[in-house]
Amino acid sequence: MQQKVVVIAGASRGIGRALALKLAAQGAKLALSARTYVELAALADEVKALGGQAIAVSADMTAQNDVANLIGETQATYGRIDAVYYGAGVGALSGALELREADLDRMWETNFKGLFYITRAAIPHMLNNGGGHFVVPVGILGRHVMRNSGGYSASKFAAVAWIKALGEEFNKRGIRFSLLYLGGVNTSFWDTIEMRVDRTKMLSAEAAADVVLYALNAPSPAVINEIVMQPESHQFI
Ligand SMILES: NC(=O)c1ccc[n+]([C@@H]2O[C@H](COP(=O)([O-])OP(=O)(O)OC[C@H]3O[C@@H](n4cnc5c(N)ncnc54)[C@H](OP(=O)(O)O)[C@@H]3O)[C@@H](O)[C@H]2O)c1
Repeated sequence: MQQKVVVIAGASRGIGRALALKLAAQGAKLALSARTYVELAALADEVKALGGQAIAVSADMTAQNDVANLIGETQATYGRIDAVYYGAGVGALSGALELREADLDRMWETNFKGLFYITRAAIPHMLNNGGGHFVVPVGILGRHVMRNSGGYSASKFAAVAWIKALGEEFNKRGIRFSLLYLGGVNTSFWDTIEMRVDRTKMLSAEAAADVVLYALNAPSPAVINEIVMQPESHQFI
């Protein structure tokens, strides 16, 4: 990833934060994004202290203008965009009759609509540069449903459909797409999920970030289309 320009949406916490620190160590140039600027700025300082390069751009992925600004600022700073990790995501797991419409909207806007915006904003730059790569940790609930996951899975299945269709459209033009079906990862994602889980049995954010790196580092012409990785034992108790 030496000198590669990577946009990390959802960089302030969880998998995205772990990924930023690992990419910095590999010599990538980073555009760190999330809604909360103060966390991004602290992370950018941490990356620079490691000898890496980073800009911090506050953006709400549910706002098309914010997404356009993130992509525009990255292009203006570094002159190209090689990869996008789309880790902005939210979850609400509850029964079909209990799921609040506001939560359904929030999941749809963040998990699908933001991905729609960022792919459409970044792809033209990637085509101009001769290629690019999107890595999307849709999660195992983007592949299988379980009780109470209907709304969340719907947003993630939509993300899968969008990415697979983009693959069909752009994979002959140098753009790669990697879908990661991860099981439970112990991050702040679970702080607001109403479900009894044993977080000590989950994957670490660092282990999940290593999977992202594996996909990003696949030597051409190999493309890692999909990866499934789950904790060894079932995490729900
Ligand atoms: N954790 C798991 O078990 C797991 C498993 C499989 C897949 N996934 C998926 O992996 C992705 C990353 O999960 P994670 O565990 O790293 O989550 P996390 O620790 O909760 O981090 C989520 C990140 O997304 C940002 N974010 C949330 N809403 C946003 C918005 N509207 N606009 C811009 N940024 C936003 C958050 O920052 P701000 O709040 O500051 O914006 C934060 O940086 C999600 O899509 C999740 O569905 C997670």
